[in-house]
Amino acid sequence: MSLPALWVTQIPPQDDPAWEKLLSAPERARYATIRAPLRKRQFLASRALLHRALALETGLPAGQIEISASYGEAPRLINPPLPISLSLSHSGLACACLLAETPCGVDIEDLSRLRDVDALAKMAFSAEELAQYKKSPGIEHFFRLWTAKEARYKAATNCAWLGRLSFGPYRLCAALPLTGLKNLVVC
Ligand SMILES: CC(C)(COP(=O)(O)OP(=O)(O)OC[C@H]1O[C@@H](n2cnc3c(N)ncnc32)[C@H](O)[C@@H]1OP(=O)(O)O)[C@@H](O)C(=O)NCCC(=O)NCCS
Repeated sequence: MSLPALWVTQIPPQDDPAWEKLLSAPERARYATIRAPLRKRQFLASRALLHRALALETGLPAGQIEISASYGEAPRLINPPLPISLSLSHSGLACACLLAETPCGVDIEDLSRLRDVDALAKMAFSAEELAQYKKSPGIEHFFRLWTAKEARYKAATNCAWLGRLSFGPYRLCAALPLTGLKNLVVC
């Protein structure tokens, strides 16, 4: 097993019927409650990615992996209870999952949606982040800072079950150049 491992994929035009079979009982229950079509596809594709990534990274059969699916929480490996921290992100038709042996967080953003990033920066960034953003304003720099902030937040809230109640230490994955996937920032 060589962790941390970051898995990124683009959701294909059709859902694969095999994906639903990979879901654990809590994931199935949550999936059944999601109504919005894109959100439903994101949930299914990102969970299938996570199950496949875990199977390949650990050597366990994909059908035997049980993952939690509580709303507003990071996914957690219930069975087998290995000390692997999981993080998920989806944006548009892209999704990413990160597996690590220390608390981790991943965030992905599809840059193709038009947004007033200057206004968002003023609203969401700290004074320090805003000063950094202003050195080189623009959509890509904005989302590099934004995804880093979201990934840090996820990593920090992902600590408790590993017995760490404070922020860090955690390992953050660097933004990657993604071949084949355009207009994405991952952190
Ligand atoms: C919870 C939050 C991190 C989710 O991020 P998002 O960009 O809306 O959505 P993403 O697709 O990237 O991530 C969603 C996934 O994060 C995971 N997640 C949800 N809450 C989480 C938490 N508290 N900690 C860790 N992971 C969490 C879940 O797996 C979720 O997917 P699922 O519902 O399909 O299982 C975000 O909504 C939030 O509250 N951020 C707070 C920090 C902040 O103020 N950010 C402002 C921008 S800089």
